[in-house]
Amino acid sequence: MPEEILLMDKITKVYPNGFVANKDVTLSINKGEIHALVGENGAGKSTLMKVLFGIEQPEEGKIYIKGKEVKINNPLEAIANGVGMVHQHFMLVPSLTVAENVVLGMEPKKNGLFDFEEAVRITEEAVNKYNLKVSARAKVEDLPVGFKQKVEIIKALVRGAEILILDEPTAVLTPQETAELFVELKHLRDQGHTIVFISHKLNEIKELCDRLTVLRLGKSVGKAIVADVTEQEISKMMVGRDVVLKVEKTKAEPKETVLKVRDLRIASDTGRTIVDNISFSVRKGEILGVAGVEGNGQSQISEAITGLLGFQNGSITVNGVDVKGKSIRRIREMGVSHVSEDRMTYGVAATSGVKDNVISDRYYKKEFNKGLLMDKKKIEDLSDRLIKEFLIKCDDRDRAVKMLSGGNMQKVVVAREFSNNPKLVIANQPTRGIDVGATEFIRKRLVELRDEGTAVLLISADLNEVLELSDSLIVMNEGHIAAYIPDASSISDMELGEYMLGVKKQTPEEIARVAYD
Ligand SMILES: Nc1ncnc2c1ncn2[C@@H]1O[C@H](COP(=O)(O)OP(=O)(O)OP(=O)(O)O)[C@@H](O)[C@H]1O
Ligand SMILES: [Mg+2]
Repeated sequence: MPEEILLMDKITKVYPNGFVANKDVTLSINKGEIHALVGENGAGKSTLMKVLFGIEQPEEGKIYIKGKEVKINNPLEAIANGVGMVHQHFMLVPSLTVAENVVLGMEPKKNGLFDFEEAVRITEEAVNKYNLKVSARAKVEDLPVGFKQKVEIIKALVRGAEILILDEPTAVLTPQETAELFVELKHLRDQGHTIVFISHKLNEIKELCDRLTVLRLGKSVGKAIVADVTEQEISKMMVGRDVVLKVEKTKAEPKETVLKVRDLRIASDTGRTIVDNISFSVRKGEILGVAGVEGNGQSQISEAITGLLGFQNGSITVNGVDVKGKSIRRIREMGVSHVSEDRMTYGVAATSGVKDNVISDRYYKKEFNKGLLMDKKKIEDLSDRLIKEFLIKCDDRDRAVKMLSGGNMQKVVVAREFSNNPKLVIANQPTRGIDVGATEFIRKRLVELRDEGTAVLLISADLNEVLELSDSLIVMNEGHIAAYIPDASSISDMELGEYMLGVKKQTPEEIARVAYD
């Protein structure tokens, strides 16, 4: 008989503004399982986990751990009850070493002073026990995200976490890092730990999890044994209708070149080459995909095109106009839209309302002004339409964006960037953190934009996404284009993986074909 290690019984959480984020939610977790918590953006997953970790207090309901009722008033009490949480936005101190972060708040002392060597020993013991390979003496700021996440997990484990909550841990990871994390999590499960895993990626849930619980609009609406349900069935439970997991599209009919990148070189502040002399074109009416393990120069390319980042050599033109030296706003006015992967830094003004965010790029335009005043009605109508069309879950158009769930913030950015008649869309990880229903919608919209004659540059670490949406694609490896595939439907994901990892590379002549005109 499986032992129920955690029961959250009829939890109701009302936020101070009156919003009911969890209503009578029940979650039952067995010892030693990996339990998926799934649901659309805004369904209340993070809220429920914040209640369990003592960050939020429920209005109603009870929590039982190993059959005993517990009150969890803050994270310290959660930890005392064996509950650990790895947040989506890491909470490490970048300037400290891994070992110092691991023991933060429980520092070992020797003669009244901080005992660094003991901290290293504690860390290394956990590294070996849990097989989470990370160097105890490394500085956190020098680590890639995948390793920072390991540090967070170790931190929770050395504090005695038996139940580990991971809120969208894979959203920021490369496929390789995800694979590594899964091996580690399965290892933890085998050692008797219990894991609550939140993700929008159904293939991950199928691969990793034992059982699942579905939340919809703040309520628990179902549970299942993962092996008994298909991805299609899981998404139906989440959304309440059938979701098309594959986008229909006709063959592209590319017209004249819109974006022309020639001999582009981008170096870091320290002079290291990040993008090395690359050339490509994107035409009206086509989606050019950029596949690659993250950190191979893709983001810098999108930032250079949109004016966020300067570049050393080469040229970038949009419909024949040079972007070099132009401001971000000037480039936007040329018809360039940008869905940035870093929505918190570039995408939204977090303290402003949804309405102000979706129209922030056009409020100054003539059509929204009546003489010297803004045309309030018109702005409200437009923002209401966008909120509806892009399925943004918010109870009020003036709700501050920072109060939205993670995926709904992303939808705010996408709504603005897709709706201003763009000539060129730079979409960098457009569906990261987005639920299946909205992903379907965003992918469909990208294809529609293409059909309306927009040029689309799609950057994505999600191989399914690039393969499904792209008409043609390039593969980036260490700042170079490793391959150009004129017909994206002709390549397998295995072959793509070989180019991504640099195992395979095309000849310069083959690669040069992507720079037409
Ligand atoms: N501090 C807050 N005040 C008011 N409402 C909030 C607050 N935090 C979250 N909400 C609302 O509660 C709802 C549930 O949010 P939550 O973050 O739990 O969703 P989620 O299921 O984790 O979604 P996602 O998949 O997008 O991360 C959302 O509609 C959100 O706008
Ligand atoms: Mg969330």
